[in-house]
Amino acid sequence: MRAMVIEQTGGPEALRVAAIPRPKQAIGELIVKVTAAGVNPIDAKTRAGRGAAGLIEAWPVVLGVDVAGVVETPAYDTHPLQPGDEVFGIITVPRASGSYAEYVAVPSTAVARKPQTLSLTHAAALPCAALTAWGAVVDVGKVKRGDRVLIHAGAGGVGHLAVQLAHHAGAHVITTASQRNADWLMELGADQVIDYASTRFEEETHGIDVVIDLIGNVKDDTGSRSLSVLRPGGLIINVPTASWPTYRDEAEALGMRASNLRAIPDGSTLDAIAAMIDAGDLRVHIDREFPLEEAADAHRAIESGHTRGKIVLTV
Ligand SMILES: NC(=O)c1ccc[n+]([C@@H]2O[C@H](COP(=O)([O-])OP(=O)(O)OC[C@H]3O[C@@H](n4cnc5c(N)ncnc54)[C@H](OP(=O)(O)O)[C@@H]3O)[C@@H](O)[C@H]2O)c1
Repeated sequence: MRAMVIEQTGGPEALRVAAIPRPKQAIGELIVKVTAAGVNPIDAKTRAGRGAAGLIEAWPVVLGVDVAGVVETPAYDTHPLQPGDEVFGIITVPRASGSYAEYVAVPSTAVARKPQTLSLTHAAALPCAALTAWGAVVDVGKVKRGDRVLIHAGAGGVGHLAVQLAHHAGAHVITTASQRNADWLMELGADQVIDYASTRFEEETHGIDVVIDLIGNVKDDTGSRSLSVLRPGGLIINVPTASWPTYRDEAEALGMRASNLRAIPDGSTLDAIAAMIDAGDLRVHIDREFPLEEAADAHRAIESGHTRGKIVLTV
């Protein structure tokens, strides 16, 4: 099959087209013919030698955790997901071979039927970002009506979905973004957008119940500064887990709660996300689409750090 592979870690130019064997099906997996692959920061981090690169055991590696496509081979004869069914899901790269390819083998528990109202290209934009946003807002944040929630990087892949989920839960949603994204984020359900380039967010808000931190301390000490806006006992969720190693100690020293978060491959949560999409309660925004062969340009775009919503590769 045709795939974009890396033979070693490096810059975006490390991505190249190759013909490699189709992945083999293990117990519980189905084979999906890939229509589109979402691009996530973790793909670029792993390509560059960070992210999940430490788990690489054999080369070449096919990146891409987000997949949408058509079932080619079911997990077993009468499994509910049958050949021809359109699915979206998440792959644990590099344990498994990723979605920058014509075929993937993916655990049947890590996929769901795609939302009926979305194309497969839009569905491919969802899995990692939506599972992360759901994990932050629903599972860890337990956000409820009346909560004050601060979401850093509301305009990005995870952020624009987290803003909508928190708004849907009835929270007062405050988010940081650049000015050009302010109106769009208000449309998605933000109550207040703070332009991080011109304003220090801690001068604009306080009494926050939950901070969903999608930046950490890689930029402007965003994580550490967020502790000062939490109410006593408030919760900070550190999503870029390598970005602020001391988050828990710093939070506990100030009497705050803290958790990291990892996206969990979970088809039943993807079912719930698909239901919200089809009910019109959640939208996914694609900033740019690239053909598979232009994966290097897609990586340059995601590494710019200013994607609005998502980037997708069409296979
Ligand atoms: N732990 C996990 O399982 C997990 C899962 C998913 C993602 N992550 C991590 O979480 C982070 C966010 O992921 P993502 O997919 O949402 O990234 P993304 O789509 O690349 O985020 C881009 C957004 O970040 C915003 N931004 C940049 N600098 C900012 C700042 N200083 N303050 C506020 N916003 C800023 C940009 O807004 P403007 O254009 O308006 O500047 C842009 O919209 C990444 O580090 C990713 O690796 C972790």
